[in-house]
Formats: sequence, C-alpha cells, structure tokens
Amino acid sequence: MSHANEQAVAVRGLKRAYGQRTVINSLDLTIQRGEFVALLGESGCGKTTLLRALAGLDAVDAGHIDGPARPAVVFQEHRLLPWDPLWRNVALGISGSDVRARAEAALAEVGLADRADDWPRNLSGGQAQRVALARALVQEPRLLLLDEPFAALDALTRIRMQGLVKQLVAHHRPGVLLVTHDVDEAITLADRALVMRNGAIAAQYSVSAAARQHRSHPDAIALRDTLLAELGVANEALAA
Ligand SMILES: Nc1ncnc2c1ncn2[C@@H]1O[C@H](COP(=O)(O)OP(=O)(O)OP(=O)(O)O)[C@@H](O)[C@H]1O
Ligand SMILES: [Mg+2]
Repeated sequence: MSHANEQAVAVRGLKRAYGQRTVINSLDLTIQRGEFVALLGESGCGKTTLLRALAGLDAVDAGHIDGPARPAVVFQEHRLLPWDPLWRNVALGISGSDVRARAEAALAEVGLADRADDWPRNLSGGQAQRVALARALVQEPRLLLLDEPFAALDALTRIRMQGLVKQLVAHHRPGVLLVTHDVDEAITLADRALVMRNGAIAAQYSVSAAARQHRSHPDAIALRDTLLAELGVANEALAA
C-alpha cells in the first residue's frame, strides 16, 4: 500500500473539559493511514468529544493534534441537506470542474448510481447513511471519523453497511476511527480496538485477521470476552 506507515493522525496530551468536568485528560493516540481503529467505551466517557476534537469541530484545552485540517466525518444521523439533491450533498466539500462526475462515482460506489438527482427525504435510513459515506469518501480523506454510523439501522442493514465500509476502506485506505458500542462490530471491522476510560485510552487490543473473519474463531471469542470485561459487562449478565 502506498500509504502504509504514513500517519493519518497523531494526538498528544489532549485535554478537554466542560466547566469543572474533565472529559478528556492526557490522551495520546496515533492512527496510521490504512489502519482501522475501533473506539469503545461506556456512554458518556468522551468518545464523541474526542471525535469532534479530531474533526476540528470543537476547541481543545491542551495538547496537540497532528492531522488533516478537515477530516471526513460520518455521524449517527446522516446530516444531509434536505434542499440539495443527492449528488450535491455528496459534492459538498469538493471543488473543480468535474464535481458532478466525482459525486456520481462516489454514489455508484455505495450502490446509489441511479439516485444522483433524488432527494434526501426519499431515502431509507440505510441509503441516507450510504450517501453520508459517499460524501465522506469523495474527499479521499487521510482520516475518516465514524461516530456510531450504523447505530440507528436495523440489524440486517447494519451488517450490509459494515461490509460496505470494509470494502470502501480497503479501496480508499484512510486511517479510520470508528466509535461503536458493538463489540462484535469492532472485532469484524477493526485492526485495533481501543477502550476509552477516565478520559484516556485505557487499553488497546490488536484484532487478528482470523478473529476479524470468523466470529466463532477462538481469537474472536477471547477478544469479545476481554472487551466486554473492559467495558464492565460481565458474561453472567449476558447469560442471564
Ligand atoms: N456541549 C457540552 N457541554 C457540556 N458537557 C458536555 C457537552 N458535550 C458533552 N458533554 C459531556 O461530556 C461527557 C462526554 O460526552 P460524549 O458525548 O463525548 O460521550 P460519549 O462517549 O460519546 O457517549 P455516548 O456513548 O453516549 O455517545 C458527558 O459527560 C457529557 O455530558
Ligand atoms: Mg457519543
């Protein structure tokens, strides 16, 4: 891969507080280009705050972020502009003479080639998220930030979306930071799974290729148990 060993982003000593409450504290994180990183952590632990800081959407109180000025971001809700047709939504953030063609190519990549002139209101939730993905990838980002992009989708659509993201990321090779609450999603997609706690990355685990490919592989089963324990979910609670 031509982008291997290039950094997508490097974060050092990041701190972010809301009033008296420190949400991110001395956080360090490096993601390489082409690397897929999943970020897990209890609700309210600061995952979205971290993503917004990396996206340049929020100020930080201390620390340093060495990364692209405008990384691509996909949120849980699609955030498409209702008054623009799909191709224009995808074309947001790119410029040049061939904008429409590039937007159409990106829509084709997410299986919506024939919907370029359609409107956001006519899309299903999964289709709208696919447009949001096309809008993110048309920029050929060095860093792709995904904040629970499949959380609002039904189980089957979610599995299809995971497959699509895997394929698109393999093709475009950005560094990816995916926030998810779903341990299995993290294992299926990521090279590395991080656990955020007390404002920092408290633990990280590499995901073996075997674990990624087979849910029932011993590596996958062991990692699932480890991550659930890290998240404070005991096996007994799941079995009950
Ligand atoms: N704009 C804000 N003003 C004040 N506090 C905030 C603000 N945004 C987030 N917080 C607080 O910061 C903490 C972290 O919030 P954040 O949204 O980053 O959590 P999260 O890990 O993404 O949670 P979830 O998994 O539920 O999405 C929470 O305690 C939240 O209340
Ligand atoms: Mg969040």
